[in-house]
Amino acid sequence: MATKAPIRFGAIGCGGAGTDRIMQLAKHAMGVQVVAAVDINPDRLDNLEKRLGYGVTRYTGPEDYRRMIDEAGVDAVGIFTPHLLHYDHVKYALQQKKHVLIEKPMVCGTAKAVEITRLLESTGKVGIVHYQRHYEPKFVKARELILKGAIGEVTNFYVYMAQDWAGREWRSDPALSGGGQLNDSGSHYQDILLWMTDLLPKSAEGFADCWHHDGPRQVEIDSMHHIELSNGAHGRMIIVGDILGGFQDDVRIRGTKGDLMFYGNKVLMRPHGGDIQEVPCSLPKGYPISPCDNFVKLIRGRCRQNRVPFLFGVRVALLTEAMLQSAHQKGTRILCSEVLKKAKLALKDIA
Ligand SMILES: NC(=O)c1ccc[n+]([C@@H]2O[C@H](COP(=O)([O-])OP(=O)(O)OC[C@H]3O[C@@H](n4cnc5c(N)ncnc54)[C@H](O)[C@@H]3O)[C@@H](O)[C@H]2O)c1
Repeated sequence: MATKAPIRFGAIGCGGAGTDRIMQLAKHAMGVQVVAAVDINPDRLDNLEKRLGYGVTRYTGPEDYRRMIDEAGVDAVGIFTPHLLHYDHVKYALQQKKHVLIEKPMVCGTAKAVEITRLLESTGKVGIVHYQRHYEPKFVKARELILKGAIGEVTNFYVYMAQDWAGREWRSDPALSGGGQLNDSGSHYQDILLWMTDLLPKSAEGFADCWHHDGPRQVEIDSMHHIELSNGAHGRMIIVGDILGGFQDDVRIRGTKGDLMFYGNKVLMRPHGGDIQEVPCSLPKGYPISPCDNFVKLIRGRCRQNRVPFLFGVRVALLTEAMLQSAHQKGTRILCSEVLKKAKLALKDIA
């Protein structure tokens, strides 16, 4: 039971993801009161209030996130809006010194992602990107194994994810989507590769098309890239939006000593020349169970480690930018150092 005054929370964007995150926060044992919400679709606010079982201060204008942050007395803000709106929303929330939970992809474009991260650092507030795979036992275990050298130095990888991604509503609008499926669900797989290996992206070369079985779209649906990481490891990243039916993924990492891969929720390892072994995995004691849990506990001072700091949003923004540039330039190899240079940044800014 909460012993302190509840954290006063305001949400920007109350669609599918927003409602799910807001409900997780509202149910958190350490006390979160959802006091306000903004969505340009009033039906979404009706639904949210129904789910919460109580009313919130409602805002419905496209710029009303400012009014909500100014007027509603919130301590913390959740940003669950279309991708290219994230930058304005998070920037204003941080300028007004609010804690921020932000959906992926954090902010589109490396320069803006670094700007927001520096702004967050200047406030001393909590900022988490909602990459929920950082809380899944299999990925947590895989990162631990890779970082302690269980498969040796990472040399290669294969990352594949496919989903019937029709690009509904804003997702296929280039002015809101910021890069189609590669920037949407694909963002998780760029993140998980960079997070598990703790390496930085070095270059990307590949292609994308805009074809879904329901017809052409104006944003990237399927893509395939060859990616190089900062230690020279290289591999393939295939992000598909045009599959018939359900979700699939396959992530394999090769090191100098062996391979690591997944089967459902299992982590499998195979030393070179040896047999496949299953590695038991569960979250370490005290590990938060979700980004929402981590967010509340950090604000409450009940845990110290932020498992998805904005830095990971920056690294993904850089890789996404390189992948998109390459796809738009007929597969030219794009060096991340050049992307950084154009943004007047250097590797040290994302290290
Ligand atoms: N982590 C995950 O697994 C996951 C899953 C789904 C979505 N997401 C992310 O969540 C975010 C939202 O996606 P979604 O699926 O919930 O989309 P959605 O369309 O269901 O919800 C977006 C909401 O934002 C509202 N909106 C649009 N412009 C607005 C504005 N100016 N001010 C306030 N509200 C505005 C829309 O009316 C809509 O209700 C995206 O960043 C997406 O990538 C993450």
